[in-house]
Amino acid sequence: MENRPIGIFDSGIGGTSIWKEIHKLLPNEDTIYLADSANAPYGVKSPEDIIQLSVKNTELLIAKNCKIIVVACNTATTNAISYLRNTYTDIAFIGIEPAIKPAALQSNSKIVGVLATKGTLSSSLFHSTAKSHGEGITIIDKEGLGLVPLIEAGKASSVETKILLKEILEPMLRANIDYLVLGCTHYPYLIPVLKELLPSNITIIDSGEAVARQTKAVLEKGELLNGAKHAVKHQFYTNADVTILSTFLSDVNSFLKIEYLKF
Ligand code: DGL
Repeated sequence: MENRPIGIFDSGIGGTSIWKEIHKLLPNEDTIYLADSANAPYGVKSPEDIIQLSVKNTELLIAKNCKIIVVACNTATTNAISYLRNTYTDIAFIGIEPAIKPAALQSNSKIVGVLATKGTLSSSLFHSTAKSHGEGITIIDKEGLGLVPLIEAGKASSVETKILLKEILEPMLRANIDYLVLGCTHYPYLIPVLKELLPSNITIIDSGEAVARQTKAVLEKGELLNGAKHAVKHQFYTNADVTILSTFLSDVNSFLKIEYLKF
């Protein structure tokens, strides 16, 4: 039994989609969330810069006494998680990668779209996952260039976003995908718009639930679950706009503390 918090970080507000899944599955756990929005987007940065930012976030979560770290960002996972695991050997890291495997298994057309950042799509981890789990399917991957800044600006449902998404999705639609994998934790916030733009035979999937299940499994195995009855605490820190981060959490009926922190 372990009452320290779960640490979660993302380049910004995207990881709140993962936080919600974790909170749903593990309602008794305290959490600390870092939204590194001042440095978003990570997806266009070099692997070295992504590692450096991930180290900064990790060290802050370790300093805040977290018992496990969820890298709630595909870009940071695919570029930095091996470095983090090799460097901070006393703490477990949970990462997130595009859900190619379930899409490949369920696809009828065997043509699957993956929408992710350039950082994720160009990483060697993405290439090896796509190779091992994508056997027998064609993957149409597209970089969602420009989407994260729009979502970070609170414009996920704007006309500007719709126009950009339509353009990005066009090659996938032409290729007749029947599954769309959301390979960036910001993108679940685009689902309402995606549903408007995509034909109904296309299934949208992301890895949020799987990450929450994996977090639970690792905590269970390490006997790190919080079994104590207590008033649950959720601390959110952003190094940019508190109001924007709050908007993405407004549907969560809980006692969240959302604050500005320079980090
Ligand atoms: N939320 C992120 C991801 O899952 C990163 C987006 C970005 O900062 O470019 O990839």
